[in-house]
Order: sequence, then structure tokens, then C-alpha cells
Amino acid sequence: MRMINETAIVTGSTSGIGKKIAELFLKEGCKVVICSRYETNVNQTVTEFKKLFGDSVIGVPCDVSDPDAVKNLVDKTIEAFGSIRILVANAGVNLTYGPFQYLTPDKVNSDAKTIIGINLIGAINSISAVLPQMIEQEYGRIITLSGGGADRPMEHMTIYSASKGGVVAFSRCLAKELETSESNIKINIFQPGMILTNLYKVSLIEAWKDKETYDSQMELLKKYVMTDVEKSSMTVIPYALPMCKDNGKSFKGFSLPKMIRGFMKVSKEMKKMGKASDL
Ligand SMILES: NC(=O)c1ccc[n+]([C@@H]2O[C@H](COP(=O)([O-])OP(=O)(O)OC[C@H]3O[C@@H](n4cnc5c(N)ncnc54)[C@H](OP(=O)(O)O)[C@@H]3O)[C@@H](O)[C@H]2O)c1
Repeated sequence: MRMINETAIVTGSTSGIGKKIAELFLKEGCKVVICSRYETNVNQTVTEFKKLFGDSVIGVPCDVSDPDAVKNLVDKTIEAFGSIRILVANAGVNLTYGPFQYLTPDKVNSDAKTIIGINLIGAINSISAVLPQMIEQEYGRIITLSGGGADRPMEHMTIYSASKGGVVAFSRCLAKELETSESNIKINIFQPGMILTNLYKVSLIEAWKDKETYDSQMELLKKYVMTDVEKSSMTVIPYALPMCKDNGKSFKGFSLPKMIRGFMKVSKEMKKMGKASDL
């Protein structure tokens, strides 16, 4: 149990990677606040975790794109647990998969507002809301989530990639500021790798690619590229602990050479099937 006396908010922790990080923290003895937009999802997750971890877990419905809701999340956390030592700004969405040129201006505008509003502005809101408490207690560990296209060009998720590029830039710049402050606050960036979660339930631009081709590619990605959610999420723990000295670092939950080999296999098999791969 490496996280006794720790308290954490994990945003977007009712499914996928956030839920797994919350579970791993709870297993380590941490007190955890579950949050997502929908009360039913929050209640369901809290009920599930309470059976295993008792009073170490509470839930607060919160849309991270709304600064008032985030303030309420922070207030409720301090009320329940007395402090916030860790923030995992994990909440994230994607809406569409396919080339940007197929999107209408209206769709571009509404996707951009939602995706950037949650992934980038939501992470900034969450960090801004916990920072005063962390500065006061002169301690904090913040972890943000990178994503496809943030560090290297990647097709077909342009708006999502832009939001994640923003998260990475913001995190690195804030790390620079924190370096010069007296407080022991660190911010690091998690690259989980490809993990099969609800994030992939996006609408496919069918004018560009038929669903059958997309499904075949997804099957191959599952087989050769995708990472196990638990293995990947485990890598977050050291960055949430007092012993973490890194600041502004990107760390991976997967093996890059294995992922590259996996992508090559997917392309080869798609070619054999006579289908174009967009990897
Ligand atoms: N899966 C991957 O391959 C992958 C790769 C790289 C990075 N990531 C990043 O990992 C993070 C988690 O994604 P995931 O794959 O685990 O997806 P997921 O299973 O869809 O989980 C997303 C979580 O965020 C919550 N959420 C969405 N919008 C929210 C909002 N406005 N406010 C608060 N909570 C919100 C969702 O719950 P509600 O719907 O109930 O709000 C859900 O709990 C994201 O930042 C994603 O970009 C994922």
C-alpha cells in the first residue's frame, strides 16, 4: 500500500483508463474522488468501488468544461477528505474519425467546441481549481493525459489531436513555472497508448471509409497494437507519489517498438485483405 494518506481526484473516472487508475489508487490505500458528467455513471462506479474499498471513495458529478462544476468538485473533495494531493486530469472525448475535409463547417465548429472544451479547457479548469489548495499545502502531483497526434502527426482525429497537443503544451509550460516555485508540486504527462475504451465509439465518416473496412482495421489494432488498460495505468502510480521528482515529463504506458511493429503488421494484413489502411 503505497498511497495511504494520499487523496486524489481522477476526472472522467467512470469508465476506461480513468476508472482503472481510480481502482489502482484505491488498492494502494488512496482516498479517491470519482467524477464524470453523468450522475448515474458516477453512482454506479461509486457503488461498485464502495463494496471493495468502503469509505475511501466518494463521487461528485462534474462536467470539467464548466469551471463552477469543477470548483464544486474541489470543495466537495476538501469537505470529505480534507485535502487534494493528486489530480489526474483524465476526462476526455473524441467525436469523429476520418479526414477533416469531410466535415461541414457546422460540424467542425461544434466538434471543436466540445472536444477542446472538455479535453483542453477541462484539464486547465481542473488544474486551476486544485492549484490554490496545492500551493497552500506546498505539495501536489498532477498528471495530464496526452493522446494520438499530440507529439507526432497522425491522421483522422485532427481536432482531438489539437486538443491533446494543447494539453501537452500547457502541462510543459506549467511545469516550467512550478520549477521556480517553492512548492513541491509536479506535473507530468501520461501517454497511455492505444487502449480499447468507449473513446473509440466515435462516429465514422462513412463518405470516406466504409464501416466494414474500419471494423477490420479495428480488429487488427486490437490484436497487434492495443495495450492492456491495467498494465498501462500502473505506470501512473510512481508519478502520483511523493518520491516523484520528474516535472514536465511525458511517460508511456506502452512499449513504443512493440507498437510500431504492431502498426506494421496491421498495414500488411490490411493490404493482404485488399483494403487500404490509413495508419
Ligand atoms: N483509449 C485510448 O486509446 C487513449 C489513448 C490516449 C489517450 N487517451 C486519453 O485517456 C483519457 C481517458 O479516455 P478513455 O479512453 O478511458 O475513454 P472513456 O472510456 O470514454 O472514458 C472517458 C471518461 O471521461 C468522462 N467524461 C467525458 N467527458 C467529461 C466531462 N466533460 N467532464 C467529466 N468527465 C467526462 C466519461 O464519463 P461520462 O461520459 O459519464 O462523462 C468517462 O468516464 C482521455 O483523456 C483520452 O483522450 C485514451
